[in-house]
Amino acid sequence: MSFSCLTTIVLLFGSVLALVKDGSDEIDRLALLEFKARIADPSGALSSWNDSSHFCDWDGVTCGRKHRRVTILDLRSKSLFGVVPPHIGNLSFLRGFNLQNNSFHAEIPPHFGRLLRLQNLSLNNNSFSGQIPSNLSYCSNMLFLNLGYNMLKGNLPTELGSLSKLQGLVLQFNSLMGNIPPSIGNLSSLQMFGTLMNNFGGTIPETLGQLRNLKILALGGNKFLSTIPISIFNISALASLDVATNQLEGGLPGNLGFTLPNIKIISMWQNHLTGPIPESISNASNLEVIQIDRNNFTGKVPSFSKIRGLYWFNSYINNLGGEQSTDLDFLCSLTNSTKLKILVIAGNAFRGLIPDCISNLSTTLSMFGLAYNHISGTLPFGIGNLINLENLQMQGNSISGTIPYEIINLNKLTILDLSHNELLGQIPEFFVNLRMLLKLDLSSNNLWGSIPSSLKICQNLLLLNLSTNNLSGYIPPEIMGLSSLSIYLDLSRNSLIGSLPVEVGKLQNLGELHLDGNRLSQ
Ligand SMILES: *[C@@H]1O[C@H](CO)[C@@H](O)[C@H](O)[C@H]1NC(C)=O
Ligand SMILES: *[C@@H]1O[C@H](CO)[C@@H](O)[C@H](O)[C@H]1NC(C)=O
Ligand SMILES: *[C@@H]1O[C@H](CO)[C@@H](O)[C@H](O)[C@H]1NC(C)=O
Ligand SMILES: *[C@@H]1O[C@H](CO)[C@@H](O)[C@H](O)[C@H]1NC(C)=O
Ligand SMILES: *[C@@H]1O[C@H](CO)[C@@H](O)[C@H](O)[C@H]1NC(C)=O
Ligand SMILES: *[C@@H]1O[C@H](CO)[C@@H](O)[C@H](O)[C@H]1NC(C)=O
Ligand SMILES: *[C@@H]1O[C@H](CO)[C@@H](O)[C@H](O)[C@H]1NC(C)=O
Ligand SMILES: *[C@@H]1O[C@H](CO)[C@@H](O)[C@H](O)[C@H]1NC(C)=O
Ligand SMILES: *[C@@H]1O[C@H](CO)[C@@H](O)[C@H](O)[C@H]1NC(C)=O
Ligand SMILES: *[C@@H]1O[C@H](CO)[C@@H](O)[C@H](O)[C@H]1NC(C)=O
Ligand SMILES: *[C@@H]1O[C@H](CO)[C@@H](O)[C@H](O)[C@H]1NC(C)=O
Ligand SMILES: *[C@@H]1O[C@H](CO)[C@@H](O)[C@H](O)[C@H]1NC(C)=O
Repeated sequence: MSFSCLTTIVLLFGSVLALVKDGSDEIDRLALLEFKARIADPSGALSSWNDSSHFCDWDGVTCGRKHRRVTILDLRSKSLFGVVPPHIGNLSFLRGFNLQNNSFHAEIPPHFGRLLRLQNLSLNNNSFSGQIPSNLSYCSNMLFLNLGYNMLKGNLPTELGSLSKLQGLVLQFNSLMGNIPPSIGNLSSLQMFGTLMNNFGGTIPETLGQLRNLKILALGGNKFLSTIPISIFNISALASLDVATNQLEGGLPGNLGFTLPNIKIISMWQNHLTGPIPESISNASNLEVIQIDRNNFTGKVPSFSKIRGLYWFNSYINNLGGEQSTDLDFLCSLTNSTKLKILVIAGNAFRGLIPDCISNLSTTLSMFGLAYNHISGTLPFGIGNLINLENLQMQGNSISGTIPYEIINLNKLTILDLSHNELLGQIPEFFVNLRMLLKLDLSSNNLWGSIPSSLKICQNLLLLNLSTNNLSGYIPPEIMGLSSLSIYLDLSRNSLIGSLPVEVGKLQNLGELHLDGNRLSQ
């Protein structure tokens, strides 16, 4: 007898034995083979799925110890392309199924509803389409359901409200629509609920306030209307509340800082929210991110002195301040926030002076935006302490006095915009240190003297605007030779003299050049 014949007999005998021993594991084997048959596997991730070994030894397959049935199928990030066949519903011992980050398409088969032991289902980052099968509601042991980053459409099935053990429901980046069913409020174990970037609409159901264990609520990037139900602010476990880019209106409850003691992230940007930032927020000492830009908040900004971990405060385009000359005093309360990175209060109604205490803001600060307010007084020289600033924008105020020479310390600056103010005096020769500058805008001030030749150091400059000042003298040839200038060069409306340097020919990539309103000769 030849060796191969013997092998065949042994193999045959083996599988007959397996069938006799326990026919049920053959069901799993067939389901896995059926699964493989519908998949293109360019990287050979499933090459071990062949008859030379028991399926419990195949890559990505985990079996139970007692009965050799599939309990976990983990095929994440295997470059697989295909569809999930209905046979998946035969893997009745399956507890975990992870297909994330592949290229599966077509519908999610309702046969998952037969997997009563299923705890984790991760189908995120594929191209699944069609509706979410309501049959998933039969998976009564489900703990985590992640369907994010697919092409799912239609409504969120009301029936999913029966998954009483569910801890995580993630649906982000799909095209789901309609209301969030109030039954979601029945998911009493839920810790994370994410619907970011879908087409959900209507009002946010009040029943979500029943989710006492909810830590992360991410509803941003939808079409939710009306007010945020007050019950949401009652979920004391909540650490992250994201309702950004919806059409929400109304105000925030005054006691928010007490009812949400664990809140770390408040993201509400781009809505129609009104009223004051609740003073009690001062007591929400775990806050790290407050993103309320593009709303219509009004009034005084409360103190942040207890919020030491705050690293992001953005209130761009609201209606804050406007009451007194002490509007900006809250900036001093931020000197205790040792991780502060982003501080943007541009586009509000702030009045008064920039307090000297800004010199004590954390040196971690990288973006400081005060533009388009009604700020007056001088720019404190202590700005030079903020040595990690990359982006300093104070345009569109009434800031007077000279430009502090201390800006020379800010050698990471990429954007410096002090335009449309009342600054006077000479432009300091501080550019020797500002090699990273991409954009410099000092236009529409009362600056005089000549254009500093140290600007030639700024070899990365894309945009330079010094127009509408009283600058005099010749245009330094080195400036005209800055070949990086590719967006905009505006020296118009000054008192510059002489002829245009021949170096202008080097500005081959320049989008716009304005030199009018000077006394240049041909
Ligand atoms: C079958 O799987 C084994 C690992 O179990 C692997 O070494 C072998 O290359 C596979 N055979 C084929 C034809 O892919
Ligand atoms: C996704 O899968 C690809 C392989 O297909 C891998 O290179 C990449 O690192 C994976 N991404 C993540 C976030 O796991
Ligand atoms: C497995 O599931 C499919 C489709 O749901 C079914 O046709 C098949 O008979 C089932 N049983 C076996 C042993 O494959
Ligand atoms: C389910 O997911 C959780 C969290 O990611 C993990 O700890 C657990 O081991 C998973 N269980 C199964 C059966 O996959
Ligand atoms: C899913 O896709 C998003 C966006 O492309 C990516 O940021 C994320 O890392 C991906 N996750 C996985 C698990 O592949
Ligand atoms: C939906 O789930 C139920 C309950 O487990 C099951 O009886 C039914 O076969 C499932 N539907 C399909 C199409 O598999
Ligand atoms: C689930 O929630 C809905 C709507 O909020 C409610 O009518 C229903 O009685 C709840 N069901 C259970 C089992 O709690
Ligand atoms: C907030 O919670 C308290 C007690 O936990 C409860 O009495 C009150 O009705 C809740 N308010 C809202 C608006 O849900
Ligand atoms: C913060 O909490 C303390 C102690 O509960 C209280 O005395 C104080 O008034 C609160 N501050 C604000 C601004 O609500
Ligand atoms: C903001 O609210 C004021 C009234 O408080 C109103 O006049 C103004 O139009 C609102 N602005 C926006 C952008 O909604
Ligand atoms: C910083 O924190 C200390 C200690 O809690 C406090 O005494 C001080 O007033 C705070 N500083 C500011 C500017 O809020
Ligand atoms: C900066 O902080 C130090 C130490 O707390 C303090 O002595 C100094 O007065 C502060 N400077 C300003 C301008 O507030």
